[in-house]
Amino acid sequence: MARTLVISNRKGGSGKSSTAVNVAAELAAQGQRVLLVDLDTQGHCAVGLGVKPRRDTPTVHGFLAGHYGLRQAVVESSWPGLHLIPADPLFEHGGVGAGELQLSDALKAEQLMDDYDTIILDTPPSLDGLLINALCAADRVLVPFVPHYLSGEGVRQLARLLFRVASRGLNERLRVLGFLPVMVDLRIGQHREVNAGLSHQFGAARLLPGIRTDIKVAEAFAVGKPVRVHAPGSRAAADYAQAVQVLEKLWA
Ligand SMILES: Nc1ncnc2c1ncn2[C@@H]1O[C@H](COP(=O)(O)OP(=O)(O)O)[C@@H](O)[C@H]1O
Ligand SMILES: [Mg+2]
Repeated sequence: MARTLVISNRKGGSGKSSTAVNVAAELAAQGQRVLLVDLDTQGHCAVGLGVKPRRDTPTVHGFLAGHYGLRQAVVESSWPGLHLIPADPLFEHGGVGAGELQLSDALKAEQLMDDYDTIILDTPPSLDGLLINALCAADRVLVPFVPHYLSGEGVRQLARLLFRVASRGLNERLRVLGFLPVMVDLRIGQHREVNAGLSHQFGAARLLPGIRTDIKVAEAFAVGKPVRVHAPGSRAAADYAQAVQVLEKLWA
C-alpha cells in the first residue's frame, strides 16, 4: 500500500514544486515506485520533469471534473519508477464540483495505492477544493518554507486548515511529517531565528535539514531534470538526498 505525502504551504514561491519533483526523483532513484500528482494548475511538475503534456493529455483536473478515471492520466517520466499525473493549466480554480474525497477514493478504487510505494501530491497555494482533496488523500504533510519572518503566517494558516480537516473527520490519519527550510543560508540571522521558532513550536525533530540556496535548483527545473541528474555534485542535490534520508526516518 502506497504512502501518501502532500507538499503544502499556502505561500507561493515556498519551494513546493521544486521539493515535490526532487523528493520524488530521489525516492525513485532508490528503487521506489513513485507517483507525483500535480494539483497546481501552474503545471510546474511537468516542467520540472521535462514532460510536455499535449492539449488533450488527461490531467488530474480533468479527472476531478469527471471526464475520465484517474489512472488514465498517469504518464511516465524519463526516470525509471517515476510517474506523473500532470495538471491542466486551463482548469479554473474553484471549478471542482465533486466532493472532498474524490482523489482519495480514486487512488484506492483504481488500485493506484497498490501500484506505487510513495504518492506525492504537489498543491496550489489557493485554499479550494484542490487543496482539500490533496489533504484528504494524504497520510503526511511536508511543509517547505523560506525562512523569512512572514513565512510563519503561512505555516500557521496551514496548521489551522489541517485541524479543520481532522476535526471534520475527513482524514484522521493526516499528520505533519516535517518542515523543510528551502533557500536557506544559515549565515543569515533571520534564517536561524525562523528555524529556531518553528522547532520551538513544533519540536526540533520536525525541522528537516534545509535545502541551501543553489541556482542549480532553478536551472535543473528549466531543463526539465531533477537536480540530482542535472547537477549531481551540487549543494542542492546533496541537500535533497539528506532531507529524504531524514524524511524516511520521520515517516518510519
Ligand atoms: N534551494 C533553492 N535554491 C534556489 N532557488 C530555489 C530553491 N528552491 C526553489 N527555488 C526557486 O524558487 C522559486 C519558487 O520555487 P517553487 O518550487 O516553484 O515554489 P512553489 O511551488 O512553492 O511556488 C523557483 O523559481 C525555484 O526555482
Ligand atoms: Mg508550485
